[in-house]
Amino acid sequence: MRKNTKRFAGNTTHQPSPKNADAHKSLRTSGKSTQRPDEPSSHWGHVGSWYDDLIGQDGSDHHQKLIIPGVLRMLNLKPGDHLLDVACGQGVLGRAAAKVGVQTTGLDMAATLIQAALARREDTALEHYYQGDARNLAACAAITPAVFDAAACVLAIANITPLSPVWQGIYSALKPGGKLVVVLLHPCFRIPKKSDWQWDQQNAAQHRRVEGYLTSEKIPIAMHPGRDDGLTTITFHRPLQAYINTLGSAGLWIDHTEEWISGKMPPHGIRFAALDKSRREIPLFLALRAIKSQ
Ligand SMILES: C[S@@+](CC[C@H](N)C(=O)[O-])C[C@H]1O[C@@H](n2cnc3c(N)ncnc32)[C@H](O)[C@@H]1O
Repeated sequence: MRKNTKRFAGNTTHQPSPKNADAHKSLRTSGKSTQRPDEPSSHWGHVGSWYDDLIGQDGSDHHQKLIIPGVLRMLNLKPGDHLLDVACGQGVLGRAAAKVGVQTTGLDMAATLIQAALARREDTALEHYYQGDARNLAACAAITPAVFDAAACVLAIANITPLSPVWQGIYSALKPGGKLVVVLLHPCFRIPKKSDWQWDQQNAAQHRRVEGYLTSEKIPIAMHPGRDDGLTTITFHRPLQAYINTLGSAGLWIDHTEEWISGKMPPHGIRFAALDKSRREIPLFLALRAIKSQ
């Protein structure tokens, strides 16, 4: 497993300053990133139809029970508000936001997923989707500065590197005081290939084993484990400080954080109580809310 993982220049140091007007250029030339903006493996176009089937019209269980209600609540969206959904996939958040009268501009780098989002639209007046790179939001004509009341980035920031150009683009798209919510697999406990559950027979308890955390890594994830079809996406593991510090450097101040546990109950059986205890104790998702500094 270790062979598949590779250290990458994470975002813990040497971030371009938020005032760096040429952040996109620095991304190409700084040598700090292993991914150029046009590198195909960064987006999910090659697995778009599989992901669209998986998520469907209303989202996965996690989307429906935790993520969408959590994002809408944390952003306190009102009818008429304008939401920017960064790395929107096939538009699952935009469809839910439209149901409460919120207008969404969704952007994703995967053309197949933008096509799916357009095909699945339930409200063509409120849902708008565009293909583009989250690291260069300014290049999308539909994303004009200081027009968005809120922004979201759901289950996607760990697929994108580097972080700073994304935050800088969101900062400029938000109105002063506008809010951003970022939802990701909890980077302290859910580190692909570096963390898992372990059953402690002696104490009849389940533990979360974390083998590595502080090192930023580029980790290919097989989309169909067990099937040798070579379909992978890329996850960039980073420690929590990388998210907090790059958001702050971009002028996005974290004012609220939630850590959400999985709603998936363990199977009934002799281990149920112990497995459920670890489910309730160790969060699955981290949700960060940040406000655009005035
Ligand atoms: C796990 S999917 C999540 C999609 C959606 N937010 C959801 O909740 O279903 C991750 C998404 O990030 C997108 N993505 C990865 N890199 C990107 C980039 N540089 N710019 C825009 N989207 C990107 C992928 O194409 C994919 O749609």
